[in-house]
Amino acid sequence: MQTSTNQEKNRDHYEKKYSEFSIKNILFWLNHLEEFLSSATKTETSWFGMYKNDFAQKIRGKTVLELGCGDCTNAAVMAALGAEVYANDIADSSGEIIKALNQNHNFRHPIVFVKGDFINNKLASQSFDYVVGKAFLHHLTVSTEKEFLKETGRLLKADGEARFFEPAVNNRFLDEVRWHIPVPGRPSKLQKTAFKNWKENDPHPDRSFSSRHFEAAGKDLFEEVEIHPIGTLERFHRILPKNKWNGKFRRWALKNEKYIPGSLNRSIARSQLIIYRNPS
Ligand SMILES: C[S@@+](CC[C@H](N)C(=O)[O-])C[C@H]1O[C@@H](n2cnc3c(N)ncnc32)[C@H](O)[C@@H]1O
Repeated sequence: MQTSTNQEKNRDHYEKKYSEFSIKNILFWLNHLEEFLSSATKTETSWFGMYKNDFAQKIRGKTVLELGCGDCTNAAVMAALGAEVYANDIADSSGEIIKALNQNHNFRHPIVFVKGDFINNKLASQSFDYVVGKAFLHHLTVSTEKEFLKETGRLLKADGEARFFEPAVNNRFLDEVRWHIPVPGRPSKLQKTAFKNWKENDPHPDRSFSSRHFEAAGKDLFEEVEIHPIGTLERFHRILPKNKWNGKFRRWALKNEKYIPGSLNRSIARSQLIIYRNPS
């Protein structure tokens, strides 16, 4: 069972974050879909990962469930690409965003919001070609993640695929260094009081984000598990000035990090695409 504190913390945090959300940008991107996807999938790690291996082509005409849809940009893009999209989030404000998107964009299939606790959904077994989550699983405790993955297996068609884009922590030293460097919105671990206050409001539970963990979690429930490390070079854009070279560096990094030898790439990667197929 999910500890109510983690679920409540996430719900309260994101309910507030999305309550005043404007869909203006999403509508603009939907109306310039090719340009948006071409740019986002070359520059932003989460879009690069989620849309890896022709995902945009593969979902046309398919039934897709997105977990933790958040501000619903990805749900809207998938629907605009021609997928029949269902989307769940613990925050009801995501449902309000979907309502506004359906009223303001002519999707072939309006997006369906699956309200409330996903574990209590009433969706039919084997009804989805894809179940996806972008920066989602790591918001669940490990025991809740297990329930979500089991439910994912139940909802996927036999030839369906689950794909999750998540952070990766495979190198303790790099992770320690990261916690000591402050970033906007999160103080350094060295600023003890500020860090403690930040942690109390942070919606991420303390848990493993390692590729080994996601492999083991998947192998319990699926025949096929793939992990794609992402962001090994790209992660260093954070130490560069925020100018046009930063974007150029990110595009170069995402394109070229595939040439880094496998174990080194996995050890340093900042993120990962996790693919599960063949529910057992
Ligand atoms: C980091 S945000 C990612 C949002 C979006 N996928 C994106 O890429 O921008 C994590 C999302 O997971 C949702 N979430 C957290 N715990 C959840 C749960 N138990 N069930 C459903 N959604 C949950 C949060 O409300 C939030 O919208």
